[in-house]
Amino acid sequence: MQQLAFDVLILGSGAAGLTLALRLPSTLRIAIVSKGELNDGSTHRAQGGISAVLDDEDSIDMHVADTLNAGAGLCNENVVRHIVSRGPEAVRWLVERGVKFTRSAEDGGFHLTREGGHSHRRVIHAADATGREIQNTLEDAIRRAPNIEILTSHIAIDLVTARRLGRRDDRVLGAYLLNVASQEVHAVSARIVVLATGGASRAYLYTSNPDGATGDGIAMAWRAGCRIANMEFMQFHPTCLFHPQAKTLLLTEALRGEGALLRLPDGRRFMPDFDARAELAPRDIVARAIDHEMKRLGIDHVLLDITHKPADFVREHFPNVYASCLEYGYDLTREPVPVVPAAHYTCGGVMVDLAGRTDVPGLYAIGEVAHTGLHGANRMASNSLLECLVLAEGAAEDIAARIGGMQLEALRHWDESRVTDSDEEVVVTHNWGELRRFMWDYVGIVRTNKRLARALKRVELLKAEITEYYSNFRVTADLVELRNLVTVAELIVRSAQSRRESRGLHYTLDYPERDDSRPPRDTVLVPPNFSGATRPVQW
Ligand code: FAD
Ligand code: SIN
Repeated sequence: MQQLAFDVLILGSGAAGLTLALRLPSTLRIAIVSKGELNDGSTHRAQGGISAVLDDEDSIDMHVADTLNAGAGLCNENVVRHIVSRGPEAVRWLVERGVKFTRSAEDGGFHLTREGGHSHRRVIHAADATGREIQNTLEDAIRRAPNIEILTSHIAIDLVTARRLGRRDDRVLGAYLLNVASQEVHAVSARIVVLATGGASRAYLYTSNPDGATGDGIAMAWRAGCRIANMEFMQFHPTCLFHPQAKTLLLTEALRGEGALLRLPDGRRFMPDFDARAELAPRDIVARAIDHEMKRLGIDHVLLDITHKPADFVREHFPNVYASCLEYGYDLTREPVPVVPAAHYTCGGVMVDLAGRTDVPGLYAIGEVAHTGLHGANRMASNSLLECLVLAEGAAEDIAARIGGMQLEALRHWDESRVTDSDEEVVVTHNWGELRRFMWDYVGIVRTNKRLARALKRVELLKAEITEYYSNFRVTADLVELRNLVTVAELIVRSAQSRRESRGLHYTLDYPERDDSRPPRDTVLVPPNFSGATRPVQW
């Protein structure tokens, strides 16, 4: 078994991980890890763009106000202002790295589109494939950096903390990585470890997210002793293509920003009945309205219609979505397309401060894995990439300032002496399917106490089974992910159970109203091994 050592170990190669690696001093030896290829995360799939105040008629105050409004009273205003006010500089940094955003045909400036919840056009984009442009540009820079080692097809199984080695302090010392090709587990020591592992929407049967979005970073941080906040706020994107072979094809919200309408099968618009902003209401409202209409009418989808716009406009602004729909037999310019909501974004996550610091010294979390307080009870569209960029910058500064005091330590080798190869892989595949289905049915857009209790019972059964399986058999990628999904599912259900009101993305028939009788509170789950000694600095 090989023992590797780095100054900074970054788990995750999306917008957050890549930005951090490029912003850290080039004197540091950095490893950047991904489960598959570097571009296997959500970043590469991002369509709409990045929200930032780039127009003279827009303002930081308006972006802050819209974010607070979408977040349904639960955003941390200081955090929102910090992140939003750094948006323009974050975009400038990307432009300097070579990211090519779409220009306006009229004045040659950046074209800004609009999405739900935004009172102004402020979403900068690269046609309808913004994430691909960012990912490719940053990846090129990473491949040229001599101080950065790329470890693709490696899955982090767990973090190693000093406490795990029997010491009394909580510092993180590295991680165990499974090399997917050789099936070997490497102990990787690092002075600093950063979770940039993305979200957990794969906990649901239908999702816009890539296969690897299994909440690994959240589960690893929980096991290492970090508090996890607001996991009940799982965001469902209103418009994914409804097609048996296209479960993960998102139809960007920018379509609605540019005029697309939601219709029932008889052609009637329904969003104006739910919110004055109609199709451009925040996502929680639109997804819930679609769910309501589907259940009321017993239909399996609604329609997204942009046929009233000139065909050239649609093809020019949405070339990728247009081409993808054609592959499934739908011409966006000629016919409304069937859409359904699907799990899309994890608003909660590992509690961090504005430098990405977690409860465990030396451990940082940035990007979708983290909970900063920006999104509150519902993330506003295109605020996620913004958060990735700004938190990565904050973490880079903090790490550069602190790393001098952190020593490298040798780790124990991964012990496989008591495990054998599994003869029952079906346990893993079966439990994957079961978990994602009951999460969809019982912990989805509309919840009840009964459904949550049913889900928790099943989580507990699966947890016992998976824990036993994990102790007896050699780890595989699927097993690592399933173990994490079970943990994440439990965190989502327990968080949902503890919120006795409906707010933002958490809607329950048992408490259908928002409780404004007292100040809104985050749901904070504290792990059994939380030391409490090192809390993130105050916001
Ligand atoms: P990701 O980009 O998801 O990267 C996660 C990385 O972590 C991957 O490299 C993965 O391999 C790695 N990883 C995970 N677990 C492990 C492990 N155990 N070991 C090693 N590596 C691991 N947001 C916007 O702001 N604007 C948009 O237009 C937009 N469009 C979207 C469209 C789609 C279809 C989707 C799915 C999301 C969209 N979002 C958008 C959300 C946004 O893309 C994500 O929140 C953001 O890209 C997350 O970036 P990240 O760096 O945190 O993680
Ligand atoms: C989209 O393009 O609709 C996704 C935007 C986002 O999730 O922020």
